[in-house]
Amino acid sequence: MSIEIEVLNGDASWKTVEPLLQAVWPSEAIAKLPWGHVKWAHADLRVLIDAPEGGVGCHVGIYFRTIIWNGHRIHVGGIGGVATREDCRRRGYASIALNAAVETVRANEAARFILLFCEPHNFAFYQTRGWRPFTGDIYCEQPNGRIRFEAMAPFVFDIKRAPDTGTIDLCGLPW
Ligand SMILES: CC(C)(COP(=O)(O)OP(=O)(O)OC[C@H]1O[C@@H](n2cnc3c(N)ncnc32)[C@H](O)[C@@H]1OP(=O)(O)O)[C@@H](O)C(=O)NCCC(=O)NCCS
Repeated sequence: MSIEIEVLNGDASWKTVEPLLQAVWPSEAIAKLPWGHVKWAHADLRVLIDAPEGGVGCHVGIYFRTIIWNGHRIHVGGIGGVATREDCRRRGYASIALNAAVETVRANEAARFILLFCEPHNFAFYQTRGWRPFTGDIYCEQPNGRIRFEAMAPFVFDIKRAPDTGTIDLCGLPW
């Protein structure tokens, strides 16, 4: 069975993915979560997998950002909004979309590593796919100014070599 996979402009494809993201993270449920108040960046690109039943089955957002790690400006990729529609789970969609997102970042030759943020129940999912915890501190922007970001745990993936620790300033909103 062939799988329809696309990498699209983030803003242009927002309306297409909105129903999936609303279904996976309903606004009422998000408001009660520890990260419900966080203002997130918009994805630069999006990987979409169409469900054979119709609509979008899986989404991975891709971000590009020049961050500061221990005082050094470094261009990195970001991954966020990894979501598979409930009726499409355990078909390998998230693994395929994540892999396509990693390859898309890798094709951007300036990116040194990839960074994502996740909750404890997904640590194993990413660790079995080659991601490792970043044990340092993360800072980012929010509407009220610069904050230490502790709402979710950072994980890194090597393109060249990702740091395991230190201080990262995302130089903008988190993803
Ligand atoms: C996490 C999620 C994206 C996985 O999507 P999926 O398309 O079902 O993933 P895949 O089919 O590629 O992979 C499923 C495999 O990962 C495993 N897996 C799924 N979620 C896992 C988790 N939280 N921890 C460990 N393993 C996990 C499954 O056991 C399965 O393994 P198997 O192939 O050996 O059976 C999906 O469950 C989801 O949308 N969850 C809600 C939103 C979310 O938490 N997103 C992550 C944000 S960081």
